[in-house]
Amino acid sequence: MTTPQDAARTLFEKLTGHAPAGVWSAPGRVNLIGEHTDYNDGFVLPFAIPHRTYAAVGMREDGRIRVASTFAEEAVEVALDELNTLFPTATGAEPAVQEWAAYPLGVAWALQLAGATGVGVDIAIASDVPVGAGLSSSAAIEGATASALNELWDAQLDRSALARIGRRSENEAVGAPTGIMDQMASMLGETDAALFLDCRTLDANLVPLSMSETGLAILVMDTRVKHAHSTGGYGERRASCERGAAIMRVPSLRDVSVDDLPRAKELMDDVTFRRVRHVVTENQRVLDTVTALRAQGPRAIGALIVASHVSMRDDFEISIPELDTAVETALTAGAIGARMTGGGFGGAAIALVEQGSVQQVSDAVTAAFAASGFTAPHIFTVTPAAGAHRDS
Ligand code: GLA
Repeated sequence: MTTPQDAARTLFEKLTGHAPAGVWSAPGRVNLIGEHTDYNDGFVLPFAIPHRTYAAVGMREDGRIRVASTFAEEAVEVALDELNTLFPTATGAEPAVQEWAAYPLGVAWALQLAGATGVGVDIAIASDVPVGAGLSSSAAIEGATASALNELWDAQLDRSALARIGRRSENEAVGAPTGIMDQMASMLGETDAALFLDCRTLDANLVPLSMSETGLAILVMDTRVKHAHSTGGYGERRASCERGAAIMRVPSLRDVSVDDLPRAKELMDDVTFRRVRHVVTENQRVLDTVTALRAQGPRAIGALIVASHVSMRDDFEISIPELDTAVETALTAGAIGARMTGGGFGGAAIALVEQGSVQQVSDAVTAAFAASGFTAPHIFTVTPAAGAHRDS
């Protein structure tokens, strides 16, 4: 079977007639807990997954950048000094080039804005991160491209600076108003650990997950309902959070605690209050999850994960029937915890299950989807994997 790494290299050779200078890759991610907290300066606990995006990259002398990928017919090529005529893209607007190409071109543009310069490049991209599944296929493209250009242009940026470059591409080249979680998870992930990230300071600490030692597995249940964060609900939720913070007279919802909620309820309308309550309680759940993982291990976090889903379903209102069915069915079939993961409005849910019940839970969810007339889900296990690196 052709691996995505081989596919990227082969595509590069077809495009240029010669071998690349190297191949770099970055993973997708699953978020264990901490949803819609990143752009509120809060806490998140994601981990990188084994699915990766590979970028085969080589230099060219004419000052142009060309990007090709196995998921598009045509390569896109522009002069490096024309990138600033393409971007920024207004939030919610169509990017100036096809969306997939805006991610890597936006990374090159954001690196230039950060002071990096270099010769032209050819970039060939291949990936096995499912697209539109809430598993951060976009952060994986950004991370692979940023890692390659950082080295070839000798920019010497560290991993969290490269994560910020990726987010800038996503926000200002693609026009999706997302936070920093996905790019940090993709750049800084480590095998067998989750990344506890303070999104205000970008302090990152690894928390061991010890899945195999404890006999547990994490199941991803991709509903195959596609979502996009450059439009619609995601931006609306973000705006509600900003409104809530303004009413509370704080810089961001990170500065509101669970004890402040009764006062918040008196000050704002019901919808804004419920958005605020989700973020405030979710921040607390991330802290409680980290404490429980460190003190007792992954078996102790089931209730927190379920509470997170309920809060997203009822207060933040970003779940959909397919996600609720996946979560409820997994729990009934014996999962320790389950929740939707990522931005919502589609994408995937995760379940924490005993290794011995993986099949039983998967079968139950597949059967429940069939009974509800939903498209068959794509269900697989993931283990926390390494972040971005050079492969060859
Ligand atoms: C998407 C965004 C992230 C984060 C999550 C929700 O994945 O890219 O920045 O906001 O949604 O937690």
